[in-house]
Amino acid sequence: MSKTKVLLVGASGETGGSIANGLLENPIFEVHALVRPRSVQKPAIVALQERGVQIIRADLKGPEESLTEALTGIDVVISCVGPAEQQDQIPLAKAAKKAGVQRFVPCAFITVAPAGGIMWLRDEKETVYNHIKQLALPYTIVDVGWWYQLSYPRLESGRADYAMTSANNEIVGDGNTRLALTDLRDIGRYMARIIVDDRTLNKMVLTYNTVMTQNQIYDLLEELSEEKVERNYIPEESVYTRVLAARQSSETYPFDPIKFIPRYLAEYQLSWGIRGDNTPEYAKYLGYVTSKELYPDFEPVDFRDYLDTVVRGTAKGVYTDRMVSKVYQRSFNRTESSDSLYTRIFPRAESSDSLYMTNR
Ligand SMILES: NC(=O)c1ccc[n+]([C@@H]2O[C@H](COP(=O)([O-])OP(=O)(O)OC[C@H]3O[C@@H](n4cnc5c(N)ncnc54)[C@H](OP(=O)(O)O)[C@@H]3O)[C@@H](O)[C@H]2O)c1
Repeated sequence: MSKTKVLLVGASGETGGSIANGLLENPIFEVHALVRPRSVQKPAIVALQERGVQIIRADLKGPEESLTEALTGIDVVISCVGPAEQQDQIPLAKAAKKAGVQRFVPCAFITVAPAGGIMWLRDEKETVYNHIKQLALPYTIVDVGWWYQLSYPRLESGRADYAMTSANNEIVGDGNTRLALTDLRDIGRYMARIIVDDRTLNKMVLTYNTVMTQNQIYDLLEELSEEKVERNYIPEESVYTRVLAARQSSETYPFDPIKFIPRYLAEYQLSWGIRGDNTPEYAKYLGYVTSKELYPDFEPVDFRDYLDTVVRGTAKGVYTDRMVSKVYQRSFNRTESSDSLYTRIFPRAESSDSLYMTNR
């Protein structure tokens, strides 16, 4: 039987890395990675090449003909680009249509949320989905809830800092809102099933391992670490105030996606923390099928086991390859633009500052 040829965009990133692993575990796939020329020497890409991934040099911002050429003969395209790069997928989708790709998986991979003014990031992604539908390109949209790796707060002792990107020390509202959670490492294992499943064609899928509240996450971390974690509740009104302020300061000309980082973080808090959008029930209401219905035999990483590795010091951190930018940042005064250098997804906040301070 011939292999399914999958082309991954964003293989050097966090989501893309998980998906590459999930596909490489399964011999039915022939894995290709579209990598911009400046990134082909990145250790993550070199390592994937050594594991059999075929590297195609191309840039989403490059000529559409070279994208069409890169996609010729590919069965499935999966895109995992960062929040600021969502619109760059439109030429990719056009090229996929021209090249006869059988399934296009645009970069979703976020929490469940409705379209239309709740979350800028969701709406950025929806613009791409609309283009795909206008092209009548076969698609699957996959959201994953909140990563385990971003869900837990900092421990006062500092022993979880090695695995964290920000201190994450805010409980939204009363902390009793339910959240769908997935281990980042399971995303690739789910994808290996989803992209060859006829039931997911032209559908939205929510993968999730478990559903918990922030208070339950804090309780579990306290139990496993035997440390007390301060509960810093952010009332609903403060979240609305943040959202309004972030919306006002992001709507400037010319368009600057970096200014949207505080905005989408505040809007995340609004969506999953206050509105309670990120649940399997709301996903089903919106028309998603869930991984629990599709794959009842799937054995995900257990959240307790994951948190236990965090506490024991053996978890793998996320975005650790962005450390170099933190070093860069130390020699400059903090400004909005230098902040944006140390990570694409987390803004400077009092909480993240304190974490970076402890790392110095
Ligand atoms: N559910 C959650 O909890 C959660 C958490 C974080 C992120 N996310 C979502 O997951 C998605 C992926 O985020 P991530 O953090 O995994 O991404 P990431 O680590 O920042 O990686 C982005 C990837 O896109 C590639 N890329 C960017 N522009 C490109 C271009 N013009 N041509 C070719 N490749 C390009 C980058 O390649 P280079 O190596 O060349 O830079 C990199 O491999 C995001 O859209 C975000 O919304 C969800």
